[in-house]
Amino acid sequence: MKGIILAGGSGTRLYPITKVYSKQLSLIYDKPLIYYPLSILMLAGVREVLIISDADTIPLYQKLFNDGNQIGMSFSYEIQTAPNGIAEAFIIGENFIGNDNVTLILGDNIFYGKLDFLYRAIERKEGATVFGYQVNDPERYGVVEFDENGVAVSIEEKPKNPKSKYAVPGLYVYDNNVIDISKNLKPSNRNELEITDVNVTYMNRGQLHVEKIGRGIAWLDTGTPEALLQASNLFGVIEDRQGLKVACIEEIAYHRNFISEKEFENLISLIPKSNYRDYLIKVLKEGTDDL
Ligand code: DAU
Repeated sequence: MKGIILAGGSGTRLYPITKVYSKQLSLIYDKPLIYYPLSILMLAGVREVLIISDADTIPLYQKLFNDGNQIGMSFSYEIQTAPNGIAEAFIIGENFIGNDNVTLILGDNIFYGKLDFLYRAIERKEGATVFGYQVNDPERYGVVEFDENGVAVSIEEKPKNPKSKYAVPGLYVYDNNVIDISKNLKPSNRNELEITDVNVTYMNRGQLHVEKIGRGIAWLDTGTPEALLQASNLFGVIEDRQGLKVACIEEIAYHRNFISEKEFENLISLIPKSNYRDYLIKVLKEGTDDL
């Protein structure tokens, strides 16, 4: 399974923050936003990850993550020249994906909670899996409608009159056909290759699994300054209460055995004096029960 983080886009709603750097580098409590979606891929055991962004931002991600070897990951980077749509990720990523299946996560999507729904999706070798998450404002998202048996019967992108309260989060698990499907898409009215059109294609082929994500999971929006503050507050509270960090990629790499104890020690020695470093030293010395 390969992973893609799509982390470009214009981010105009967050101006002036996004005038100089991309939204996915903005701060969520104590780390850049992109750490959160990256940690989801890592927890799911996806170790080869392509990061796609605009030409100005790719060097910043490279500075942040290098080739990923320090955390037992392998990162590749590709440029998206303009925000031509989420499905373009599979055209840009064609060589990277090769003959594998692929999980795409949007660089501004945050999930928190037990990830069994994702682990199950990754186990499936054929077709596509997307998720349904109940929200108050479905008209802002891709919206999935279910029949009385819980089978998905329609998916619409930002419908004026949503047929359900279930939004489709920016986390998608596809078999290798996603490349061909994306190549054959026509741009939508807003001139984008729509991820919803990819999902509708799988649905029409009878190859789309849609799994509802229940109440125990937080899926957070990061589209506005208020939403960024809410996410920061949430993780600030959790980290303070438990003394455990959320989306700490070095800790995950160590716990998932992507790196050895020696490599973890080495990694810590390269991190400047900070609370973050102190936390990692604590993890090394005391261990933690849970991720
Ligand atoms: O967040 C989930 C929603 O994401 C889904 O429910 C929708 O079906 C899907 O279309 C998408 O809706 P958004 O309106 O939120 O997409 P947005 O254009 O804001 O892009 C989402 C992220 O992907 C954002 O961080 C920018 C990045 N992006 C987007 C496009 C269109 C790119 O890097 N390149 C792109 O071409």
